[in-house]
Amino acid sequence: MSEPLVRLTAITKTYRAGEVDVPVLRGIDLTIDAGAHVAIMGRSGSGKSTLMNILGCLDQPSSGHYVLDGRDVSGLPDDAVSAIRGRTIGFVFQQFHLLPGRTVLENVELPMEYQEVPADERRARAAALLERVGLGHRLRHRPHQLSGGERQRVAIARSLANQPRLLLADEPTGALDSKASAVILDLFAELHAETGVTLVVVTHDDAVGAAAQRRVHVSDGRVVEG
Ligand SMILES: Nc1ncnc2c1ncn2[C@@H]1O[C@H](COP(=O)(O)OP(=O)(O)OP(=O)(O)O)[C@@H](O)[C@H]1O
Ligand SMILES: [Mg+2]
Repeated sequence: MSEPLVRLTAITKTYRAGEVDVPVLRGIDLTIDAGAHVAIMGRSGSGKSTLMNILGCLDQPSSGHYVLDGRDVSGLPDDAVSAIRGRTIGFVFQQFHLLPGRTVLENVELPMEYQEVPADERRARAAALLERVGLGHRLRHRPHQLSGGERQRVAIARSLANQPRLLLADEPTGALDSKASAVILDLFAELHAETGVTLVVVTHDDAVGAAAQRRVHVSDGRVVEG
């Protein structure tokens, strides 16, 4: 059995709010195999986004260890963590987080600019990804000229720009109606099958949870399978 892509051991996260400590994660043990498709579920405020921010190396745990692709990232300096994040992880958010002043094509190029991919190569790859998500006819549009579902498809294309091993999506259908949600859900399933990316999706939506191979519930600061 090979090493899982993600191994969280005894992860805790406590926020400080004024004088009060707010323990959110109280000892998370979680492994995720390369190529898996996992849904993270749980009630509002249970700590799903907190967990995703740690998985995405956007935030550090208060204690515990995070081994990502064989490397312990818990104690690394910020710049080392940023470099690993940029190469290894793609993100999709509920509110899309596209840059309004850039075209669709430029939004998808952006993560490749950070990785210093040559301009012609990144333009070609961005166009191909946008073609793949069905937006080849919208390259010069700005995000505000798109529907919500189209914006999320741009965000998904962007998330794949650097061919991440781990794709993290926090409520990716949370701002969409049921029809647009179904399109996004199908797209994730297709891209998971085509690329073999490890997909972790936070959701309240039972349909999104049902599409995953595995469901993990966050409750009382811990994870429960099933
Ligand atoms: N920066 C912060 N400082 C203090 N408390 C925080 C901070 N971020 C989150 N919290 C608290 O941690 C708890 C978990 O928040 P989190 O955003 O992880 O929940 P969630 O499961 O993603 O909820 P939702 O389903 O509503 O998105 C909440 O009670 C929240 O108020
Ligand atoms: Mg959340």
